[in-house]
Amino acid sequence: MGTITFVSHDGESQEVEIVEGKSLMQIATSNGVDGIDADCGGEAACGTCHVILDSEWFSKTGGQSEDELQMLDMTPEREPTSRLSCQIEVSEDMDGMTVTLPEFQM
Ligand code: FES
Repeated sequence: MGTITFVSHDGESQEVEIVEGKSLMQIATSNGVDGIDADCGGEAACGTCHVILDSEWFSKTGGQSEDELQMLDMTPEREPTSRLSCQIEVSEDMDGMTVTLPEFQM
């Protein structure tokens, strides 16, 4: 077991338990984390599950597909450590990770 903390753009944080094999988007939405819309259901096709990772965690969340990179190119608040949360499979190794939510999704 472990937890991931989601921090809203105005600094409110919510800790969520890791469920091995689920996506970061799935554990956020199933725990009612505000600010992740996930309109396409996890297909890397809507960009409304955008999150920003701490740089120390960015490299530990796996590679990015062309689809994800193209979608992030259209994301207004993109940062160097931006990811689509539906494209990150969570694992116990991510215990303690902090994820920041942008002010707006697309
Ligand atoms: S849920 Fe649509 S891109 Fe992630």
